[in-house]
Amino acid sequence: TYVVTEDCIKCKYTDCVEVCPVDCFYEGENMLVINPSECIDCGVCEPECPAEAILPDTEDGLEKWLELNTQYSAQWPNITSQKAPPEDADAHKGEKGKFEKYFS
Ligand code: SF4
Ligand code: F3S
Repeated sequence: TYVVTEDCIKCKYTDCVEVCPVDCFYEGENMLVINPSECIDCGVCEPECPAEAILPDTEDGLEKWLELNTQYSAQWPNITSQKAPPEDADAHKGEKGKFEKYFS
């Protein structure tokens, strides 16, 4: 599966949603997540994210994000079309420590 990671927080560009063939993105207040049991591993979303927030879970150190995507995709609503990002999205792009600062 692919997972959404910290770089999405406060950016939410939602380009990923537009390309996913199985509509497996779910929307929280500050970030999106992927439902790992619905993701078919096609990989088309990865290069679409301007924040480079989407990664295959085969990369090292992503256990926390796999867990978080699994947990919140079961709670948050499905999002199936792109919407405007937050006005300050670009200011938060690439910022470090966003999980600790903004995730709740
Ligand atoms: Fe959707 Fe494919 Fe991305 Fe999985 S890898 S979330 S199926 S676009
Ligand atoms: Fe987030 Fe990137 Fe999608 S910032 S909403 S994972 S396009």
